[in-house]
Amino acid sequence: MIDGKKVLFSGMQATGNLTLGNYLGALKNWITLSDEYECFYSVVDLHSITVRQDPQELRKRARALLTLYIAAGLDPKKNCIYYQSHVSAHAELSWILGCFTYMGELNRMTQFKDKAAKHADNINAGLFTYPVLMAADILLYQADVVPVGIDQMQHLELTRNIAERFNNIYGDVFTVPEAYVGKVGSKIMSLQDPTKKMSKSDENPNASIYLMDDPDTIMRKCKRAVTDSEGIICYRDEQPGIKNLIDIYSACTGKTPQDVVAEFEGKGYGELKPAVGEAVISVLKPLQDEFARLSKDKAYLDSIIKENAEKAGYYAQKTLRKVQRKVGFPDRIR
Ligand code: TYM
Repeated sequence: MIDGKKVLFSGMQATGNLTLGNYLGALKNWITLSDEYECFYSVVDLHSITVRQDPQELRKRARALLTLYIAAGLDPKKNCIYYQSHVSAHAELSWILGCFTYMGELNRMTQFKDKAAKHADNINAGLFTYPVLMAADILLYQADVVPVGIDQMQHLELTRNIAERFNNIYGDVFTVPEAYVGKVGSKIMSLQDPTKKMSKSDENPNASIYLMDDPDTIMRKCKRAVTDSEGIICYRDEQPGIKNLIDIYSACTGKTPQDVVAEFEGKGYGELKPAVGEAVISVLKPLQDEFARLSKDKAYLDSIIKENAEKAGYYAQKTLRKVQRKVGFPDRIR
């Protein structure tokens, strides 16, 4: 609790171009929840270097992501928006928690297996211990709730296990966090292969809608989305392409999937696809305009970056000091 409010933590990697999946699965829920909780939203740049990055490009993308959080509607005076690398407690707690995490647990992480297969030439130790750092992110702020897409659930479960294990040994040190997964949009699928999730790292640019895609590109990608030959608009697993388009339309308009099915009753895919395109454009266009406006305001962004790193650092240090004392590190001499 901070000032009588429950705490929320979440983060995104500044790697690749953000997709509609990141927006509908995470960012959109962050905004909905931001009034109710004391929120920490991090640009998790420490996580990004588990895959080789171009330094200039990483710096640029990290700043763009931080700007995007604000452009999407998170007020940086109320929400703590900051770079993970500006708060060294993340790395320090991660080391400690690594000593309370088993190799077997990390071996079971599907994201590790997927990434290791994709980057077979660089299966580094950071890629393996990535979920421990994620646990440190969350537990440092004593977060009650963590809004994420379905793909992060396994990491959240591990975070809970690490927190409980630590608490069993040392008493109530960490709040055990709950995941928050939205009803629609928690797993947006690829437009070209609707059995795979929409991903920043997909090689086929038509598979993903990027948050910075212009309206023509968005419309073209929606019209080219892979569907099926059934010809009827139903919300069911047997029609994954149509189901995904309905999910996108629902998440963008606030309608339930059932309402969408009713709206398109008797209509064909040729009508659904452009409607989805329009719905996506109407969500992304204001975001893009605000992003362009904010990006020019260097002094404002810099002041936010500085203030919020200090705020995050304050809360993170409080937990870190407590943990250090619990595990037996010597007190500091003042
Ligand atoms: P990342 O950067 O891969 O994704 C950011 C958020 O977007 C969600 N997401 C999706 N949701 C729906 N459909 C999709 N196709 C889709 N693709 C991505 C993700 O679930 C995530 O919520 N390890 C995390 C970042 C992280 C983090 C944390 C998150 C680091 N520390 C602590 C929460 C709490 C990641 O790589 O997310």
